[in-house]
Amino acid sequence: MNRTVAVYPGSFDPVHHGHLDVIDRCRPLFGEVVVAVLANEEKQPCFSVEERLEMLRELLADRPGCRVESFSGLLVDFMDRLGARCVVRGLRAVSDFEYEFQMALMNRRLNPRVETVFMMPHEDYSYLSSRLVKEVFRLGGDLTGLVPQPVLERLGRRLGAGAAAAPAPRRAAEPAR
Ligand code: PNS
Repeated sequence: MNRTVAVYPGSFDPVHHGHLDVIDRCRPLFGEVVVAVLANEEKQPCFSVEERLEMLRELLADRPGCRVESFSGLLVDFMDRLGARCVVRGLRAVSDFEYEFQMALMNRRLNPRVETVFMMPHEDYSYLSSRLVKEVFRLGGDLTGLVPQPVLERLGRRLGAGAAAAPAPRRAAEPAR
């Protein structure tokens, strides 16, 4: 039986299909995947930690082998408390690499038992980020297929009607202006 616990940390503000894709890729590889929401962000999040936990728990309810927790302080300390040694991070593009590499090496320096595993989300999500999700939603863009429905609904309640009230998305052939 695989008892390896993987910790997938992040802001998840909000969770999108790229995150869920990484989680689904991890599930067959690890005994347990702990999705860890950072609680002490300096930047002003769109959703509170409780809201982010709720969304993740709702979306992961039918995915056995996953647990959702919040943490504050150093990730390596949280991992120690869990008895976990493996951090999972999604690597979407080369542009992610430098920041992720620094973080992985700093975490290993802080705790040499901690190793970071990088997972590539499906290429359909390689340009997707929570920041862009919020921006596109605010501006009325179509996020179908990129963000789960319950998250879209919460974005609507938090930020206004957004895509729900937007006209039909442009066809690909129509040039953006
Ligand atoms: O989704 P994000 O915002 O890219 O996630 C970043 C996160 C939460 C993984 C990172 O900021 C983190 O681990 N913060 C906890 C504090 C910490 O341990 N800092 C040192 C990491 S090198």
